[in-house]
Amino acid sequence: MKIVIANNTHAKYAQIICDTIEESAKVRGTGIARRTPEYILTKMENGNAIIALEGETFAGFCYIEIWGHEKFVANSGLIVHPDFRNRGLAKDIKKAVFDHSRKKYPDAKIFGITTGLAVMKINYELGYQPVTFSELTTDESFWKGCQTCKNYDILTRTERKMCLCTGMLYDPAKKVKPKEKSRLNDKAFTRLKSIKQTLFFKKEKATTGVKTQK
Ligand SMILES: CC(C)(COP(=O)(O)OP(=O)(O)OC[C@H]1O[C@@H](n2cnc3c(N)ncnc32)[C@H](O)[C@@H]1OP(=O)(O)O)[C@@H](O)C(=O)NCCC(=O)NCCS
Repeated sequence: MKIVIANNTHAKYAQIICDTIEESAKVRGTGIARRTPEYILTKMENGNAIIALEGETFAGFCYIEIWGHEKFVANSGLIVHPDFRNRGLAKDIKKAVFDHSRKKYPDAKIFGITTGLAVMKINYELGYQPVTFSELTTDESFWKGCQTCKNYDILTRTERKMCLCTGMLYDPAKKVKPKEKSRLNDKAFTRLKSIKQTLFFKKEKATTGVKTQK
């Protein structure tokens, strides 16, 4: 498996990356910010993405987004093709994109928002901490990315204070060491997600009378 910084020679993979992200979101029945192949291509051309290939076959991808004039960066759009899951590839890609972000944007805070337990675990081990949304970027264009997520109404209803996603932040000024030994309390996060779902979806049902997905 090759894990490298993507460039324009990887343009042919932009479509399969978008398709795999969208298909996986459908399978999970979860919200996701939609990406276009053109957007993915820009990330490759700017050296702001990591791609994993097994020979010529697409295996995984993740890219860097820059917000608030490089005050914040996000490692977004993590995807591992179903054929390559559960063998530590997401961990390796995230580590590669994290190291690349630290080199290229050494002063930036690195953050992400996610509903995925796998991503929370990986981020925690890299030294991210769970934080409230108020500690993340206020850059409007970042939050606009959530508009294509099916849970966007929850974010607006809470005035951007919370959503089903959990915010996680790595602050280079705080020098938190990677947590190889201490593990994320995944039971607590699964429980928290289920509480948020019950709370937000119940409210939605009561106000609209529409049956929503659990
Ligand atoms: C989530 C995803 C990236 C994981 O990829 P992967 O290569 O299978 O993950 P890894 O093998 O590196 O696993 C990393 C850790 O997460 C755990 N994990 C993997 N998939 C998981 C899942 N669906 N639920 C809970 N934990 C999971 C692994 O057990 C491992 O934990 P460990 O360190 O305690 O062993 C992959 O399933 C995927 O692309 N899913 C669809 C897109 C997605 O959900 N992206 C995240 C956006 S929020």
